[in-house]
Amino acid sequence: MTIKNICCLGAGYVGGPTCSVIALRCPEIKVTVADLSKERIAQWNSDKLPIYEPGLDDVVKTCRGKNLFFSNDIEESILEADLIFISVNTPTKIMGNGKGRAADLKYVEGAARMIANIAKSNKIVVEKSTVPVRAAESIANILKANQKPGVTYQILSNPEFLAEGTAINDLLNADRVLIGGEDTELGRAAIEELCTIYQHWVPRKNIVTMNTWSSELSKLAANAMLAQRISSINSLSAVCEATGADVSEVARAVGLDSRIGSKFLQASVGFGGSCFQKDILNLVYICECLNLPEVAAYWQQVIDMNEYQKHRFTTKIIESCFNTLSGKNICILGFAFKKNTGDTRESPAIHVAKTLLDEGAFIRIYDPKVDREQIDEDLTNPQICEEPEVIRKRISIYDDAYNASKECHAIVLCTEWDEFIGLDYKQIYANMMKPAYVFDGRKILDHQALIEIGFHVQTIGKRL
Ligand code: NAD
Ligand code: UGA
Repeated sequence: MTIKNICCLGAGYVGGPTCSVIALRCPEIKVTVADLSKERIAQWNSDKLPIYEPGLDDVVKTCRGKNLFFSNDIEESILEADLIFISVNTPTKIMGNGKGRAADLKYVEGAARMIANIAKSNKIVVEKSTVPVRAAESIANILKANQKPGVTYQILSNPEFLAEGTAINDLLNADRVLIGGEDTELGRAAIEELCTIYQHWVPRKNIVTMNTWSSELSKLAANAMLAQRISSINSLSAVCEATGADVSEVARAVGLDSRIGSKFLQASVGFGGSCFQKDILNLVYICECLNLPEVAAYWQQVIDMNEYQKHRFTTKIIESCFNTLSGKNICILGFAFKKNTGDTRESPAIHVAKTLLDEGAFIRIYDPKVDREQIDEDLTNPQICEEPEVIRKRISIYDDAYNASKECHAIVLCTEWDEFIGLDYKQIYANMMKPAYVFDGRKILDHQALIEIGFHVQTIGKRL
């Protein structure tokens, strides 16, 4: 089989950028990204894409309508595809067995059932979503149980390692592409087909093939180990604050050891994003199911440390402001979980905002890329907020940092957007209540300069 048509089920943060880059690098292949959501597909077909990702607009503009299509016609997309990526969401279960920890595979199962019901020709089905080990077996079982005569399937695991904010660069210059499949003649042939697609731009030596279960576990392992580094440096940030050491200096010293390396040692208010917590919880659940409680407890600690870090940061804010925030205006700079994305899933800013609201503060939020509706949803969704209307009255959203910080008692920096570094803090100080505080949850500001202006400054992992 030569792949001429690719379909991707799921037009989200992974499906959209990944398939846009495949379309860009494989002009002879038709790529259709299909989603159940009419709104999402309409946005992908408009000038304002549903996600903000540097470089994505240009790639989509180059390919859309030529060999890249966004569609709600799932049936047609599946029928004509030789290879189908499953890039649907795999959130943490919110009910039933494994609630709060296990991955909910209902969307993966839904996608597999759609393929089974619709397909009339042979397909390579590629699991791109992050899933528990042996999820490919469930997909295979669903497909086989509903197999039409003459239709065969090969299931591959091809986890995605892109990070939001750098997705296009990560996809174009991937450290590695991982493909897991069956060690049979047909399995190896399917792996080769997928390799051929990536080889349009990824050197063959960077395409790693292995058995399906190793591939699935490697994805969870990579996220767990990245998050573990952040929790490790964050744990040391508490030691720094207690002793007078500076966590940036410690991270630098440690990271210069080539065995350790310098990346992912940036102490912060805590990690966010849709995946680290969900994937580690999933790993913990798998370990418990495998009767490996010590291993489960080890990984659980990465999450616990992250919660501790967020809690430590908000406690510092409350204590510094004389233990009362009631009626005070607090400005939150940055609401996304990291810079260069508009994504707020599991953003530490949500934890910070909720805690300040619980203390009775009025909060004024500015983020360059997060939509107002998203902030409102994150803070007043009835599932997490008992009195949405009451809370809504205490939240204001601004279009710039200057207006957001006016008449505030404190600025709390939650996202490391570059533009926050270059703000005119003299002007900001002049318009704030005194004493004026800055809590830098990302360690990006010039703290000495702020102190000279007159601010009281607190940050992570350093006494000022
Ligand atoms: P997302 O929520 O942004 O997108 C998922 C999309 O799938 C939604 O638009 C949803 O409508 C659609 N969908 C659900 N069921 C469908 C079906 N049967 N047919 C067609 N569409 C369907 O999720 P995401 O952030 O893109 O993540 C997808 C997967 O990739 C997850 O497993 C995640 O863990 C993994 N992942 C995410 C990232 C990231 O940076 N966000 C990086 C690597 C891996
Ligand atoms: C992460 C991984 O980096 C990707 O490889 C993976 O594909 C993805 O999860 C996924 O599976 O979803 P992402 O969550 O998009 O990517 O972004 P990261 O750059 O990893 O940042 C995650 C969080 O950790 C952010 O809140 C970030 O601010 C924080 N972080 C990161 C730190 O606090 N310190 C650091 O040194 C690095």
